[in-house]
Amino acid sequence: MLKEMIAASLAEHCSLSSQQIEELLEFPPNEQLGDVAFPCFALSKLMKQSPALIAGQLAASLPESSRWTISAAGPYLNFKFNRAAVIEQFARNGGAQIQEIGGGKRVIIDMSSPNIAKPFGIGHLRSTMIGNALYNLLHKVGYDTVNVNHLGDWGTQFGKMITAYLKWGDPASKAGDPIKAYLELYVRFHEEAEHQPELESEAREWFVKLESGDPEANRYWRMFIEDSLAAFNKLYDRLGVAFDHYLGESFYNDKMDAVVDQLTRQGLLQESDGALVVRLDEEGLPPCIIKKSDGSSIYATRDLATAIYRHDQMLGNELLYVVGAEQSLHFRQLFLVLERMGFDWAKDCKHIPFGLMLMDGQKMSTRRGKVVFLEDVLDEAAAHALRIIEDKNPALAGKAEVAEAVGVGAVIFGDLLHSRLHEVNFSLEDVVNFEGETGPYVQYTYARTQSLLRKAGSSAPAEPGGYADAADYRYAESDPSWQLTKALMRYPDALAQAAQRYEPSVAARYLIELAQTFNRFYHHEKIITGNPAEQAAKLALVGMTADTLEDGLKLLGVKALKEM
Ligand code: ARG
Repeated sequence: MLKEMIAASLAEHCSLSSQQIEELLEFPPNEQLGDVAFPCFALSKLMKQSPALIAGQLAASLPESSRWTISAAGPYLNFKFNRAAVIEQFARNGGAQIQEIGGGKRVIIDMSSPNIAKPFGIGHLRSTMIGNALYNLLHKVGYDTVNVNHLGDWGTQFGKMITAYLKWGDPASKAGDPIKAYLELYVRFHEEAEHQPELESEAREWFVKLESGDPEANRYWRMFIEDSLAAFNKLYDRLGVAFDHYLGESFYNDKMDAVVDQLTRQGLLQESDGALVVRLDEEGLPPCIIKKSDGSSIYATRDLATAIYRHDQMLGNELLYVVGAEQSLHFRQLFLVLERMGFDWAKDCKHIPFGLMLMDGQKMSTRRGKVVFLEDVLDEAAAHALRIIEDKNPALAGKAEVAEAVGVGAVIFGDLLHSRLHEVNFSLEDVVNFEGETGPYVQYTYARTQSLLRKAGSSAPAEPGGYADAADYRYAESDPSWQLTKALMRYPDALAQAAQRYEPSVAARYLIELAQTFNRFYHHEKIITGNPAEQAAKLALVGMTADTLEDGLKLLGVKALKEM
């Protein structure tokens, strides 16, 4: 915002466009020199004069402004802002204005997508939370976002599940926690199948029955889906995540033949050990298997049908897949095959990968049954938050709800704070902490703004832009106030970057920095002073900080609490 103002004014006095100037403008490391610096090297090339000479000439020829003072220092033109004037203008405009960069384009986000009858582990948390944050962030900057839960509700594992359920299933244990019971069955199937290979063929038979519409097989399959969805939905509620569509893999059962037909017509299919594949030798990739030797279709075939459906029927302009980095090869193959099929929109399909989440340094696996249940993790996080609250603020009303919001928020924020490709080594003690770079720290800072605004009572700004009249912004000229203003001005940029790079961590980092900058301001300034003009100016900054923190937390999927 500061750069924009200067670029617009400079553009009238030199041969560069305001956009070119904006790209050249710098924030000097030493604030004493100025708030923004214009290096004159680019102009020097154009005008064939020394940069220092140009800087001097520009400094002399630019008109005086109430908003800044200008000085030349060597090859640089430095601008030092009239802080009170800039803060006043900013507050009158209601704070930072979000950049519209999406232009209404529809982005379809494949996210969460857990597998039926398997636990929703903390690994799926990453897809859910990164996906949800991207869904909100992209919407905020002007995209039309649609999210889809591509449930893993089809595949040979259902033959195994039916076999195991019929052999060892116990409706009573299932009544307690069906997902845990199903996982035990799944694990037991693999254990017993090692010395009882006939189990595998039984499972295959059940899957064939399921594929051919056998009512009994279908009934079990539906039971697995209903039980699993009930459990998943409880978690989604807790995480505050909702889906526009649940369209599992089975939805595409009747849409795959058309894909195989097209591939055949286009001569893209080749036989390989009895299977049908699309060769990707030129790209140095292993072939993409379309039909297995037993004629059954697989993951990739479903994903081809899915992508075509999302483009043709759901009218997606961009298709995002928020899925772990271990599936990178799958998505490269998928997008290449779409390209070979002649879909020019294949270039608008993007895999948004993320790193593993490790617990005590170990990858989680459902097959061995060594798995962390997300529900347990959230329970523990909430319990930990409650202990901290009991210690810090025992008189707080509604402690249990606050602890839930803090605990869950801590897990979400702890996940989003790291660049998504990084491995996250998850530790509850680290994320459920009111200090340091954590969600609770940002929430706590927001609660602090609320407590200040409550104390100020009726003199607090009712809404952005509502502060200006009583305020004298010369009271908000200290370095900490100015730094806070500048941090507030960066919000639209942080959101635009987070959206463009599909990187919620940019927004999470920004919120940490804003909270830190606010807390420096808070410790430096007496805010409730009793002098109306002074108080109003400072409260305007508090109010804008509150609005920004609340909005940012919400975008990331974390609740902002009035008190904690
Ligand atoms: N169900 C898969 C898994 O848990 C993820 C599906 C991702 N989405 C997709 N369109 N392939 O591994």
